[in-house]
Amino acid sequence: MPERTGDDDVVMVRRLTRWQRLGMAALFLMGVFVVGAAVFVWTGYYNISAKSEHWDFTTEILQTVRDQSIRARADSIAVPDLDDPAMIALGREHYRGGCASCHGLPGEERNPVARAMLPDPPDLAYAFERYEPGALFWLIDNGIKYTGMPSWPGTGRQDEVWPMVAYLKSVHDEIAPGTVLDDTSSDGEPIDTYGFQVLDECSRCHGDAQTGPVSDRVPSLSGQPPDYLERALREYRAGLRESGYMEPAAFALTDQAISRFATLYSQYPSRSADTEFDPDQVARGAEIAMNGVPEDDVPACTSCHGNGNPQFPNLAGQSQTYLEGQLELWRNGGRDTTPYGQIMAVIGRNLTPSQIEDVSAFFASLEQPASGGGQ
Ligand code: HEC
Ligand code: HEC
Ligand code: HEC
Repeated sequence: MPERTGDDDVVMVRRLTRWQRLGMAALFLMGVFVVGAAVFVWTGYYNISAKSEHWDFTTEILQTVRDQSIRARADSIAVPDLDDPAMIALGREHYRGGCASCHGLPGEERNPVARAMLPDPPDLAYAFERYEPGALFWLIDNGIKYTGMPSWPGTGRQDEVWPMVAYLKSVHDEIAPGTVLDDTSSDGEPIDTYGFQVLDECSRCHGDAQTGPVSDRVPSLSGQPPDYLERALREYRAGLRESGYMEPAAFALTDQAISRFATLYSQYPSRSADTEFDPDQVARGAEIAMNGVPEDDVPACTSCHGNGNPQFPNLAGQSQTYLEGQLELWRNGGRDTTPYGQIMAVIGRNLTPSQIEDVSAFFASLEQPASGGGQ
């Protein structure tokens, strides 16, 4: 009997030992790995200098992670018409102010500082070839972590990103291999000289005394109440009104510049729309504007817009696309972080998409008010 017990003990001990050995081996390997990783990190062995490339396999892993990540997220994105000239025009102007500092103008040499980045910002003349439109949209909206490629500055303003994709498509459509694309949008002549160097920066998009906005997605500022324009610029500057186009344009403006811009732009001559409108749609829109939609708690727009309050923007003669865009923004919960924005948020949420189109067509079909006034 004692012997049997001894045998059993031996078997037990052997089994335990086998598991223990495996476990210990695994623990040991993990320990070596952790200590190795710690030594690797603490000794500063890895060279993070942007002067030397990553190891090939590091680059490979990073690129695969990046490409798969974009692909997985961009799959189901619906693509709008990218040949719209108004989208391309706005994209081009923002590209000059917001992207060219890193990526250079398409097809042109990039500045040496940008070329010294790792990874360096690629020439975007070929971006439309490399990516599906949905992937480009995702990439420009989100940016890429740890590379210097920023996300779109206007939080929640995905609606602003498509003009950038449209512009990159237009570059791709135009470019012949080896050509250098000249920036032909605004012709380099100083447009206005009101003692403001920076005014060109605004006129590129908003136009000036002679020309209207570069795109129907850019609001006309002529004839707006200066108080409204001033408040809008302060809100962009403070990041209270989100826009990836306007926050970068406004963040460095001084109070003095803001009030001078506001006065100047409000005095530019008003212009009338040269677009054709569907009379039935305009009539439906007029009904909403003048009488509201009582059953949906929508008040008459003209009870505020046009009542002379200097904080209420003029809608008459503004482009239909811009008006629709702002109303859609409110409908979807954007532009509601300021007290004035909240007034419109309540109204925007109660409008249907077709009512938004109708009422926007109505206001767009009207003459702009005389300069400096508010309607
Ligand atoms: C501060 C510099 C910087 C700015 C400003 C910038 N980018 Fe980039 N961008 C980068 C870098 C760096 C990369 C490379 C990232 C990588 O390789 O993963 C990049 C990559 C890209 C790519 C992918 C290109 C390719 O061939 O893989 C696109 C598209 C792009 N940027 C678009 C834009 C647009 C549009 C803007 C302006 C709204 C912009 N970028 C502004 C730095 C910048
Ligand atoms: C890249 C094109 C671009 C540039 C450059 C630009 N803007 Fe704008 N601006 C826009 C767009 C697009 C909007 C509409 C943004 C939104 O949806 O809120 C806008 C909106 C505005 C508004 C609000 C108008 C309203 O009816 O609510 C003001 C005011 C304004 N811009 C002034 C300026 C001034 C001043 C400058 C120069 C410092 C400037 N912008 C530069 C494109 C531009
Ligand atoms: C109670 C007053 C009030 C009523 C009624 C009203 N609005 Fe407004 N609306 C405002 C205010 C205030 C703003 C400025 C919001 C801001 O500064 O963000 C504004 C802004 C807007 C803008 C943005 C203009 C720009 O230049 O960015 C649009 C578009 C607009 N309203 C459309 C309408 C329509 C359409 C109706 C009717 C269905 C309407 N509003 C009814 C007060 C009103």
